[in-house]
Amino acid sequence: MLGRDRIEYKTPAQVRAMRRAGLVVADALAAVREAVRPGLTTADLDAVAARVIESAGARPSFLGYHGYPAVLCVSVNEEVVHGIPGGRVLAPGDVVSVDCGAFVEVDGAGWHGDAAFTAVLDPADPADAELVLATEQAMWAGLAAVAVGGRLGDVGAAVEDAVAGRAAIVEGYVGHGIGTAMHQAPEVLNHRTSARGPRLKPGLCVAVEPMLARGTAETDVLDDEWTVVTTDGSRAAHWEHTVALGPAGPWVLTAPDGGRARLAELGVEVAPLD
Ligand code: MF3
Ligand code: CO
Repeated sequence: MLGRDRIEYKTPAQVRAMRRAGLVVADALAAVREAVRPGLTTADLDAVAARVIESAGARPSFLGYHGYPAVLCVSVNEEVVHGIPGGRVLAPGDVVSVDCGAFVEVDGAGWHGDAAFTAVLDPADPADAELVLATEQAMWAGLAAVAVGGRLGDVGAAVEDAVAGRAAIVEGYVGHGIGTAMHQAPEVLNHRTSARGPRLKPGLCVAVEPMLARGTAETDVLDDEWTVVTTDGSRAAHWEHTVALGPAGPWVLTAPDGGRARLAELGVEVAPLD
């Protein structure tokens, strides 16, 4: 659906506005990561993120989006994405995926950032830890493929190659363009396809967000009409960053260092925005 729409290429000033939003998301997720532990509810995590976003003078992207009722998505164990924060109490060994979006307003437009991480609470099942690591590595591989002269299809191929069969790639959910709306063209697949996709050009801003599961790639949506779960109950993980492509390379807008350290490990040099 998003695939046919036009891509909104950003000017350098617009990318800098998106970096402000991205760094708010990074701060909110860092605070949640610091706070998360057994005994807290998922609503407690939502409150942590809400406070960080509000004190930064930004606004949450998710709250009110198609009626979504919270600041974060918190998806536990077999929940893949879009879990609604509430009274659920986190337990030892839980796999907790936390997704956050925020926007800043500049000249009447809202500029969005979107990112997610998954943590395993102690004591971690080694297979859960491996699932989370595979998902994070797949995300960085996808981000590393965002390069001038490449094709959008390279991103999904890089994600798939990095997964290398270690887990199932969840079907039916994709990354996306992002800018004056949280979800824009193009769709960013987490797997290889025959379509090479559009050329990757300066000004492209996308969220790369692999979702992997230990068992099946199939999902259902719960009766709350949001929470996506694996049909076999196997545990899932989700990692996401928003990246901007500039003439000289990428900058990860939701990472404090622009992704410099992790992308260098993959042979990619980031291009600072100023
Ligand atoms: N952040 C999700 C994504 O990565 C979207 C959240 S849906 C919402 O695309 F309704 F919670 F906002
Ligand atoms: Co997203």
